[in-house]
Amino acid sequence: MSEDPATGEEVAGDAVFPYFLYKSKGTDMTETPLSVSELTKVFRKSFGISSFKAIDSISFEVRKGEILGFLGPNGAGKTTTIKCILGLLSPTSGKARLWGSRPASLSVRRRLGYVPENPDYEDAFSPVEFLSMFAHMRKLPDDRKMHELLLDRVGLKGWESVRIRSFSKGMRQRLSLALALQPVPDLMIMDEPTGGLDPNARKEFRDIILEERDRGASIFLSSHLLSEVETICDRAVILAKGKKVTEGSLDDLLRVEEHYRIEYIDGWKTPEETRNAISVDAGNLQNTIDALRNEGRRIIGIDQEHRTLEDVFLSATGGGRR
Ligand SMILES: Nc1ncnc2c1ncn2[C@@H]1O[C@H](COP(=O)(O)OP(=O)(O)O)[C@@H](O)[C@H]1O
Ligand SMILES: [Mg+2]
Repeated sequence: MSEDPATGEEVAGDAVFPYFLYKSKGTDMTETPLSVSELTKVFRKSFGISSFKAIDSISFEVRKGEILGFLGPNGAGKTTTIKCILGLLSPTSGKARLWGSRPASLSVRRRLGYVPENPDYEDAFSPVEFLSMFAHMRKLPDDRKMHELLLDRVGLKGWESVRIRSFSKGMRQRLSLALALQPVPDLMIMDEPTGGLDPNARKEFRDIILEERDRGASIFLSSHLLSEVETICDRAVILAKGKKVTEGSLDDLLRVEEHYRIEYIDGWKTPEETRNAISVDAGNLQNTIDALRNEGRRIIGIDQEHRTLEDVFLSATGGGRR
C-alpha cells in the first residue's frame, strides 16, 4: 500500500511511488534503450605517460525491461564506457546511442537516470534544493511533495532540507539515487551504485532496482561485485582489460556441463588424515566410482557442482586481472 499524495488516500497495490502523477512522456518504448557499437577510448599521452587504450571495440545493448550487469574488476574500463555513453567523454571511435539518439538531447535526459560512481555534489545545498535544480534542468514539475516522497523512498526522510555538507558517502549515494529516479526513468545507468554502502543499504538499493525493473524500466548496472550482481541481473556483459570477454543470460553463463564432486577416504586410514575429493564430469562418474572402490577407497559423498559468476569470470579471463 502507498499513499496518493493528491488525495491522501491509501492506494492499493505494490507501488511504492506514485508514478501515475507523472504524465506520459509520449515516448516509444519499443526502441532499444542503449546500444553501444565498437566503442573505443584511447587516453592520449600526457605528462610523459604513454597513450592508453582503456576500452577496446566494445559492443552490447541493453534490452527493454532487463537488468544488464556490466561486470569487471577495478580498472577494466566500466566507468570509461559509461562516461562515453553519457557524452561525458568523447570516444576515440565507435558510438553509443540512447533510444537511437545522442545523450545530450533533452528528450534523452527526461528518460534517463544516472547514478555516478562517486557522487560529487556542492555541499551548500540540501536534497530538496538539488531535486528542484534537476527538475528545472529536465523541465519537469518542481513538485516539493513529490520530492519528499522520493527522498523518503531512498531513505533520506528527515534530511530533506539539511545541507549535504554533513552527509556521509552512503547518504550522498542515496541522494544520487533520488536524482536518478526523479524523471521516472525508462533507463537507469548505475556505476557501482552500492560501493561503500553497508549490507542493509545494499539490500535497499537492490530492492529499488528490482522495483524499477518490475515497473518496466531497463537498468544498466556496473559493478565489480560479482556475487551481488548475480542475484539481480537478467544478463551480464563481462569486461576485462578494456575488452568484452563474454556476454549472456545469467542462466546460460551459470549453466555448467554436469559436474560432480566425489569425496572419499582411504579405507585403511582415519578419516581426518585422508579426506580427499575429485571432480568429474557426468560421463566419467560411474567409472570413477568403480575405480575408487576397486582401489579400496570409501566414498563418503557425491555432490553436483555449481558455478558462480566469479568462476565464469575467472575462466573467461584466464584468471588474469589488471
Ligand atoms: N582520464 C584518464 N586518463 C588516463 N587513463 C585513464 C583515465 N581515466 C581512466 N583511465 C584508465 O583507464 C582504465 C579504466 O578505468 P575505469 O574506466 O575507471 O575502470 P573501472 O571503472 O572498470 O574501474 C584504468 O586503467 C584507468 O587508470
Ligand atoms: Mg569505475
